[in-house]
Amino acid sequence: MQNQRILLAARPIGDIKPTDFEARTETLEALEEGKARIRVVYLSLDPAMRGWMSADENSYVPPIPLGSTMRGIATGIVAQSKTDKLKEGDWVSGFLGWTQYADVAPEEVNVLPQAVPMDAYMGVLGLAGATAYCGYKEILEPQAGQTLCVTGAAGSVGSLVGQMAKADGLKVIGIAGSEEKCKWLTDELGFDAALNYKTDNLMKGIHDFAPDGLDIHFENVGGAPFQAALYNMKAHGKIALCGLISTYNSTEAPAGPELSAMIKKRLTMKGFVMTDHWHRFGEILGKVGEYLGKGQLKYRLDVVEGLENAPTAINKLFDGSNKGKLTIKVSEL
Ligand SMILES: NC(=O)c1ccc[n+]([C@@H]2O[C@H](COP(=O)([O-])OP(=O)(O)OC[C@H]3O[C@@H](n4cnc5c(N)ncnc54)[C@H](OP(=O)(O)O)[C@@H]3O)[C@@H](O)[C@H]2O)c1
Repeated sequence: MQNQRILLAARPIGDIKPTDFEARTETLEALEEGKARIRVVYLSLDPAMRGWMSADENSYVPPIPLGSTMRGIATGIVAQSKTDKLKEGDWVSGFLGWTQYADVAPEEVNVLPQAVPMDAYMGVLGLAGATAYCGYKEILEPQAGQTLCVTGAAGSVGSLVGQMAKADGLKVIGIAGSEEKCKWLTDELGFDAALNYKTDNLMKGIHDFAPDGLDIHFENVGGAPFQAALYNMKAHGKIALCGLISTYNSTEAPAGPELSAMIKKRLTMKGFVMTDHWHRFGEILGKVGEYLGKGQLKYRLDVVEGLENAPTAINKLFDGSNKGKLTIKVSEL
């Protein structure tokens, strides 16, 4: 049986280029005893991949070795099993990588309930949902009546943060990169307000929305939107620092934001990574499922067909052209 996988061929400088990857087609060896062969259905493309591709040894996961399969979270179906812990037809998720088939030990994957469409495990019941819940609930500890700002607001994480906050009775403003995205936030998702960071005056826009300041802020992008939110925080406010996507392709150290407001306003800001909470995924996604079950969360996927398109599709994350959770459809369900 033939398998196509995509390897990391070079560490990107600046933007990710197709030449940073190499596609390889090989004949699969016989499946080892104790393992299962997974046919990948959906591969999640995530901003964090840009960091994993770099040589940075000083992060929460080691760099992807050059010449090895590109790392990625994916969902798939057990196609063959030589372990009694996984049976043919089971749905699983894990770090399966950019590949059509992955041979795994049972402890490397989670078995997924087949009660929702498989693509839900890419977004709302996947890394994005868990990240949104953890950062919003566990770091920001929101209370009804508070004011929350979220950047990257129309993205897979940001859109869920804002909707959870609306469901909990908060006032929500989102910052995103197009009129279409801002309209989606207010008209479809129920955000109270949205600002376009490419055209709106963010300092003024946030101040007009929350003249007394923001109680809590969920940061996904960095740069000017982060600076504007930081400037508009209330004293003793809280910030969940989830991501800084605007800096990921930079070849120079970022110029800001200027962080003295952290001290002047005695703010709490906490960085976090979801991989620390991997063992709690089931519990956390159960909580996300409560919002979903009550019809309080909408989500959308941006599905690109074919593993061979992953090396170019990943840049949709950085030019903002993804509308929803960026996902590669590797094979038919
Ligand atoms: N800490 C964790 O464990 C964890 C886990 C998952 C994700 N994250 C972080 O969460 C953030 C969002 O990830 P996601 O998976 O939900 O992706 P996403 O928001 O679905 O897609 C990325 C979005 O980022 C925005 N963006 C790209 N470049 C930008 C720039 N220079 N300035 C402002 N916005 C820019 C684009 O939206 P616009 O059109 O609005 O520009 C783009 O659509 C990322 O920073 C990611 O690293 C962290």
